[in-house]
Amino acid sequence: MGQSAPTLKAMPIVIAHVSDIHVDAGARAAERARRVFAHLDALPADLDAVVVTGDIADHGLDAEYETVRGLTALRHPVLIGPGNHDDREAFRRSLLGVPASAEPIDQVLRTDRFVLALCDSSIPGRHDGLLAGTTLEWLAAELDATPADVPVLVAFHHPPVELHVPLVDPIRQFEEQRLAAALAGRANVVALLAGHAHTAAATRFAGLPLLVAPGVVSTTRLPWEGDGAVVDLDQPPSFAFHVIDDDWRVTTHFRTLG
Ligand SMILES: [Fe+2]
Ligand SMILES: [Fe+2]
Repeated sequence: MGQSAPTLKAMPIVIAHVSDIHVDAGARAAERARRVFAHLDALPADLDAVVVTGDIADHGLDAEYETVRGLTALRHPVLIGPGNHDDREAFRRSLLGVPASAEPIDQVLRTDRFVLALCDSSIPGRHDGLLAGTTLEWLAAELDATPADVPVLVAFHHPPVELHVPLVDPIRQFEEQRLAAALAGRANVVALLAGHAHTAAATRFAGLPLLVAPGVVSTTRLPWEGDGAVVDLDQPPSFAFHVIDDDWRVTTHFRTLG
């Protein structure tokens, strides 16, 4: 009996998820971010998207965003949203290259195969998170505009649930029932993506997978790992690949650049 040739499946939807690069004036954070983005840019296959879920510039400074702008000029489609360390005006001016404004930075990537809605969960001047009323209205309109047979990923910086990370749980996304209401009855939303926690994590919110990307700049220690320190600077940078199958099942692979 001869071996039959393996059946080649069509490439599923593959989205790289990077978070919390915290680029500042020093070399360390920029170098770790550079390694991740250079790795993604050198992949043999084209990705459907690279999403970066916030805490882009450590101090929200124009010079930091200019550095990030160079690091994130990739051959893949890239969507970058803000976190609690970011400044909306500088983010727009020096990263997105659009007129400065303090309004929430809500962005969508629309393709024939999927939609990625990246909501701004930051509150200017604060570290906890909230989806503004205008952001929820924007999300509803984007979901209304998406055909029922197109899967949607909804992303934001702040996770809307506790993750058992003492540093992050008090500054998570609050009033999360408003997000749950916005997702109710939206059968084509397949997963939620977040950052902020600086730890690769998977949980559930509103009946959906909630997938949290690791932090490129650092890793939080969990209470049962503790020696008193809450942040581990020695673990190498990492990120996630989210894969969406034809049946909309989402598989996440976490990758570490050793
Ligand atoms: Fe962060
Ligand atoms: Fe954050």
